[in-house]
Formats: sequence, structure tokens, C-alpha cells
Amino acid sequence: MSTLTIMPSGKTVEVEAGTNLLQAILDAGEKLISKCGGDAKCGACHLFLTGGRKGVSKMTPAENAKLDTLIGIGSKSRLACQMTLLGTEPVTVELLGALSG
Ligand code: FES
Repeated sequence: MSTLTIMPSGKTVEVEAGTNLLQAILDAGEKLISKCGGDAKCGACHLFLTGGRKGVSKMTPAENAKLDTLIGIGSKSRLACQMTLLGTEPVTVELLGALSG
């Protein structure tokens, strides 16, 4: 299992390893928009990975390329739809609300 903490609400959920992060966030009842169906095309699922870098899959070239086109990205930026929870360490993400997409 993977422990996922979602900020700013602070909600913590236990998620099966191998679960897509976007799906896990939606399952937790949090709001995260997906306009492209998880295809690394819209950027709406942009969030900050603030803890547990080793607990998620590495960035793919498609994710990296999309992030390069977004405004407001930082060193912690990731696209939730492109990430898999690995269960190796607890993960904390910060949803960006209106800033996202
Ligand atoms: S849902 Fe569109 S880039 Fe992630």
C-alpha cells in the first residue's frame, strides 16, 4: 500500500501500490481536473510533489514535455495522470486549485 497525503486539505489515504495518482486523488474525494483523459496533453492535473519522490514513478518524456509548456511550474511540478504510486514511501502532493492548468 501507498500512503498518500493531499494538501491543502491534509487528507491522508491508503492506496494500493500501482494506482494512478490522478485516480487516487479523485477516489479520495478531492477535486482535480482532467481535460485530456490522462494523456499528458492538457496540463490540468498539474500539482506539486512535496514529499516522497521515491514513492512515485519517474517522469516520462511526455510528462516533461507537457510541463515545459505550462505556466507556474516549479521543481516540484508533476502531472498526476502520469504518475503511479509505488508503495515504497509515503507521498505528499499539493493541489494547486485555480493555478492548475
Ligand atoms: S489529465 Fe491532462 S495532462 Fe493529466
